[in-house]
Amino acid sequence: MRAALVAVAYQSGFGHTAVLADSVVAGAVSAGATAVPVVVTDMSDSDWHTLDTADAIIFGSATYMGNVSSGFQAFAEQTGRRCISGAWRDKVGAGFTNSGAKSGDKMHTLISLAVFAAQHHMHWVNLGLGPGWNSSGGSEFDRNRLGFWLGAGAATDVDADPEAVHPADVATCRHLGARVAEVTAQLLAGRAVTSAA
Ligand SMILES: Cc1cc2nc3c(=O)[nH]c(=O)nc-3n(C[C@H](O)[C@H](O)[C@H](O)COP(=O)(O)O)c2cc1C
Repeated sequence: MRAALVAVAYQSGFGHTAVLADSVVAGAVSAGATAVPVVVTDMSDSDWHTLDTADAIIFGSATYMGNVSSGFQAFAEQTGRRCISGAWRDKVGAGFTNSGAKSGDKMHTLISLAVFAAQHHMHWVNLGLGPGWNSSGGSEFDRNRLGFWLGAGAATDVDADPEAVHPADVATCRHLGARVAEVTAQLLAGRAVTSAA
């Protein structure tokens, strides 16, 4: 069985979401996938080929004005023909975002990413972690410290360097990458069985 190809397609204006994207990639690799980062604001023909041939695409965007950034949305709108033709149908999808505020309305960003995947007929994978930091025994260093289910949600001070991205958010994104790689491998194995039958 070949390794799953997981693309991590993201936008980052100031480098915070890029740190999380690196962790998503590392998580996918740790689970046996081949993982390739793609910066959606600087798409080459090779990048489009990566997305078109990937088994899974994990989308990431900084939260700007309570939604995906204009850079991410411009990329999304460039996929219109692929959407109509079903080019990405039945790929696995998932998402992550980063905002300045702890909430920052970034749930809306994750919803936008999930809707984008749904428009491409992709299979959305949730985060698969319970909420952290939600009891007297919890701490800000718990994975999923901000309590999302739909995808990975991170928060970074707006005046912080990328190195200051919270370690719990890095770990949460690593988990997401590994989870998507595992689910994708299961799907590939299932398809191999059903196509052989
Ligand atoms: C135009 C703009 C809009 C923003 N809107 C929000 C917002 O709605 N909620 C929030 O919490 N942070 C908001 N922020 C802060 C960013 O989400 C935050 O700085 C984030 O770490 C940027 O990630 P990046 O470095 O990957 O671009 C905004 C920043 C910019 C530049």
